[in-house]
Amino acid sequence: MSARFGTSVSLNNSGLEWWKKTTVYHIYLRSFFDANGDGIGDIPGVIEKLDYLKDLGYETVWISPFTQSPHRDFGYDISDYLSVSPQYGDMALVEKLVQEVHRREMRLVFDLVLNHTSDEHPWFKESTSSRDNPKADWYIWRDGKGKNGMRPPNNWRAMAGNKAWTYSPERKQFYYTAFLPFQPDLNYHNPDVKKVMFDVARFWLNKGVDGFRLDIISAIYEDQSLRSNPPSFRVAPSDKSLSIFFQNLKNNFLQEKSFEFATELRNVVDEFDSPPRVLIGESHGEEGLINRFCHNNGKNGLNAIFLFKAISTPFKAENYREMLMTFERHFPEPLIPTLVFANHDRTRLISRLGGSVEKAKLLALFQFTCRGIPFTYFGDEIGIPRVRIPLKQGKDAIAMQHKWVPQFLIDRSAEILNRDECRTPMLWSEKPNAGFCPDCVEPWLPIAESFKKINVEAQTAEPHSLFNFYKKVIRFRNETPALHAGSLEIAHEFCDKSILAYRRILNGQKHTVLLNMSRYTVKSPISSELLLSTHSQSHAHELQPFEGRVLKETSQETALQ
Ligand code: GLC
Repeated sequence: MSARFGTSVSLNNSGLEWWKKTTVYHIYLRSFFDANGDGIGDIPGVIEKLDYLKDLGYETVWISPFTQSPHRDFGYDISDYLSVSPQYGDMALVEKLVQEVHRREMRLVFDLVLNHTSDEHPWFKESTSSRDNPKADWYIWRDGKGKNGMRPPNNWRAMAGNKAWTYSPERKQFYYTAFLPFQPDLNYHNPDVKKVMFDVARFWLNKGVDGFRLDIISAIYEDQSLRSNPPSFRVAPSDKSLSIFFQNLKNNFLQEKSFEFATELRNVVDEFDSPPRVLIGESHGEEGLINRFCHNNGKNGLNAIFLFKAISTPFKAENYREMLMTFERHFPEPLIPTLVFANHDRTRLISRLGGSVEKAKLLALFQFTCRGIPFTYFGDEIGIPRVRIPLKQGKDAIAMQHKWVPQFLIDRSAEILNRDECRTPMLWSEKPNAGFCPDCVEPWLPIAESFKKINVEAQTAEPHSLFNFYKKVIRFRNETPALHAGSLEIAHEFCDKSILAYRRILNGQKHTVLLNMSRYTVKSPISSELLLSTHSQSHAHELQPFEGRVLKETSQETALQ
């Protein structure tokens, strides 16, 4: 394939691959912008808003699945990988989206759900129909245990906490699901499955997509001999481990073969090398294990893997420092960490920060100046809050599965069980329905009540808004090679209980970042040239509560302490 926009874009001025220096904006398609007035976001809506993203300074757009689906998990349950759901558009519109993104010299990443299909996919229907049809082995089927075979083959739980086996009366066997019961796992031990799914990837690569976000890639293989999982003390899932509901999901997630799979998929994607395409995997688990997706015993693998630790790390300088040290230890150059604070499954960032815009600005400064690929979840640039939606009204399949959990427990928890709460529509303006869809239409999820204040139009007009800070810091990163391509050095001598400090270094150019993560005014350990601050008024010798700054370090820099 020929290079699309010349050689200048694949390698930037700093000689770094495009995906290492990029910034990613994650669009939950259903909620971004409704161009056809049916209350649901769509592909034309994304096209219409590309200039918004370009203007903010983002280079890469990742959009959630748009292929045919019964939408029980809103596109993460696919019934045809090669055609477009009419809710979102059609193939011509997807092709137009690719063109429009590239015309703006931006990149496009699709969500690829390799692990499972919908139970309404014709493959699964065929597979279910008998034990000897051509697709009988395309999914993971096993006989049940017990006298009448009605007990599941082992104790495995799925990632969403439910039992991992579902009985099919038709086939009189159990099928396995790593997620929800209507999302049967494909059997990658079967070479035909692998081939067909690699061809799915090729199909979209041929359309020009710049890469994929790989949905629950940690689940792609499971232990073939079905060993039961050991017990664990954990009930709720965590960003560090793969334990849930008193079980360590050791034998159905993060198998050796999954790391090998990353290398195989890399080889497929590398058939399309001009420009090079990117693979970003979704996996929970220890950084020292999941980094193997990126370097499988010295073999090439995924370009990057989501690191979810930042989502649950307490907002404290020492915790962040420790997190950074972990990221750097397990993802040293040429690997690269990812910097992720939110997504379409987790609570809204600003709500986790207690509604503090100051803290949100500080995290934006961190995300766009630290070494790593920054991912912004749509709307976090204006601070869309978590919208409380009772579990019983949930459209999200996880909410439906947990309807029995008392609402008062949910209300106290910082994390969401009803993912609708972080998927409410984008707030574009103070018009009815926040400009997401026409006022005569009911949006698929409610609009955040605070939309008159929190919306793109209002924040564009307000010089010190969160939105304008995002714009400033992203542009600053784009224009500053040390910030998007430099190495990272934790400036331990400036770090203390309140301050997180690091340097980005490239060709002798040094930028020091100081983040005051406390609510106290603290003395600034250095006072060299100020390049950027989260605060509109900065005082050279002190950092205000939650102030973050970028300073240019010179050789004659004066230490104040
Ligand atoms: C991933 C997605 C989530 C989806 C699940 C099943 O975790 O982020 O939204 O429901 O996989 O595909």
